[in-house]
Amino acid sequence: MVRHILSDFDLSREEVIEILDLADKMKLRPAKYSEALKGKTLIMLFELPSLRTRVSFEAGMTQLGGHAIYYGVGRGAFSRGETLEDGVKVLSRYADCIMARVLSQEDLERLASAASVPVINGMTMRYHPCQTLADLMTIREKKGLLEGLKIAYVGDGGCNTAHSTLIGCSNVGMEVAVVCPDDPKYCPDPEIVSRAEERSGKEIDVVHDPVEGVKEADVIYTDVWVSAGMEEEKERRMRVFPTYQVNRELLSHAKPDCIVMHCLPAHRGLEITSDVMDGPQSVVFDQAENRMHTEKALLHWLLV
Ligand code: CP
Repeated sequence: MVRHILSDFDLSREEVIEILDLADKMKLRPAKYSEALKGKTLIMLFELPSLRTRVSFEAGMTQLGGHAIYYGVGRGAFSRGETLEDGVKVLSRYADCIMARVLSQEDLERLASAASVPVINGMTMRYHPCQTLADLMTIREKKGLLEGLKIAYVGDGGCNTAHSTLIGCSNVGMEVAVVCPDDPKYCPDPEIVSRAEERSGKEIDVVHDPVEGVKEADVIYTDVWVSAGMEEEKERRMRVFPTYQVNRELLSHAKPDCIVMHCLPAHRGLEITSDVMDGPQSVVFDQAENRMHTEKALLHWLLV
């Protein structure tokens, strides 16, 4: 059976740890894996722009001795009237794996149903599982463990990164607080929260007071206030979210050794201030680097 990674629910706790362990080894000794995916091809489908996902996957495939092909499909999946299913069936004949960044999770699921090779979610509006693998690698690298740590996700609790963070972090035994405005639009999807709680046996807190939410946090995480597909709501979001800015004052309420994460791109002065982003507690550029190491490990795990 072909294995797809369409959301963070597609990886068990043991599988995540296995991938993180491999990513650590690949980061330490990249040369050892320089021919691991020799002759293999990754197709990268993009309906939305990307810096990190595109370049980290492509560089990762190169480092593993394989090849990556970028294919921009524009909004609405495949262009020129071809159905998504027809396009993907063709791509499956050329490539060993497909990584896709599409807005709609339903489109991604249709794509996977038609594919005869593994499909990896490179971000939809609902989930961003590759980001969470890199985040977990970074937290473990900085803190030496995952289980029992508290992460406070501050900002738009209903976005893809918030969903993936709460699923991925609870899955490995972390305490999760989603710190967001008291409006269902900006809170995590209750179905995702319930499913993550059921799977992990851990309660996920949804907190609306930012100071309360970051108390005892080992990790503070934030992301942009206006994610892809939400541009029409920009004005409203700019009024709602400033209380949830990650700045020095908010950071002072977390543990003194709390680290600060952001999946990038960051809008300095909005969801995070420059002094925090460039400060000693920020790990955002290590986090971005670890996208490549975890994606290499994921590709190896799926294809070898
Ligand atoms: N964090 C992230 O996915 O970055 P890109 O949108 O640049 O790929």
